[in-house]
Amino acid sequence: MTATSTPLKIRRLTYADLPHVIALERRAFPTPWSLAMFVLELSKASGVCLAALRDGELVGHLICSRYDTVWHIMNIAVDPAARRQGVASALLRDLIERVGGNDGAQITLEVRPSNDGAIALYEQFGFLSAGRRRRYYQDNGEDALVMWRTPATLDGRMDDIPNVAL
Ligand SMILES: CC(C)(COP(=O)(O)OP(=O)(O)OC[C@H]1O[C@@H](n2cnc3c(N)ncnc32)[C@H](O)[C@@H]1OP(=O)(O)O)[C@@H](O)C(=O)NCCC(=O)NCCS
Repeated sequence: MTATSTPLKIRRLTYADLPHVIALERRAFPTPWSLAMFVLELSKASGVCLAALRDGELVGHLICSRYDTVWHIMNIAVDPAARRQGVASALLRDLIERVGGNDGAQITLEVRPSNDGAIALYEQFGFLSAGRRRRYYQDNGEDALVMWRTPATLDGRMDDIPNVAL
């Protein structure tokens, strides 16, 4: 059986996963989140933190916080060895289902304008770019693209995007 044909399991992330999350995070990002940042997000009862597992091994994680009525994807990463196999898509599908993303829920995120792969992924899920946050990324001063997925963006419009600074 090939790796890609092994079923993927998506479930809530737990504190016990964190050593694996930290190791994956270091493989995925030049400026990875610290353990304390993951602990803080996991401690929020209103958030959704997900793990993707294949053969019992962590291959991806997703962290989403809730701010009032808006869901904010804070982090999504897939192990470099497991990319382009639908892992991030499975995490996003599961998140959208859990937060009611097809029943009116509004979801936002920031992404580096240079991250073409992630932007392509988000656009496939109905996210649209709605603006920029200037010099958002502290490591290199890069702007962030702010993307939203709302009932309007799923219809190619942006007229229901909240005017909020998250
Ligand atoms: C971005 C990331 C999460 C994508 O994870 P993934 O599991 O490989 O994504 P998927 O396999 O679900 O991709 C679904 C689709 O998104 C698009 N996509 C994903 N990665 C892409 C890439 N590197 N280049 C171009 N398109 C890409 C493709 O259309 C892809 O479909 P295809 O493989 O059939 O062409 C992963 O590359 C990653 O962890 N990157 C480092 C961390 C990061 O940048 N996170 C996002 C921060 S905002």
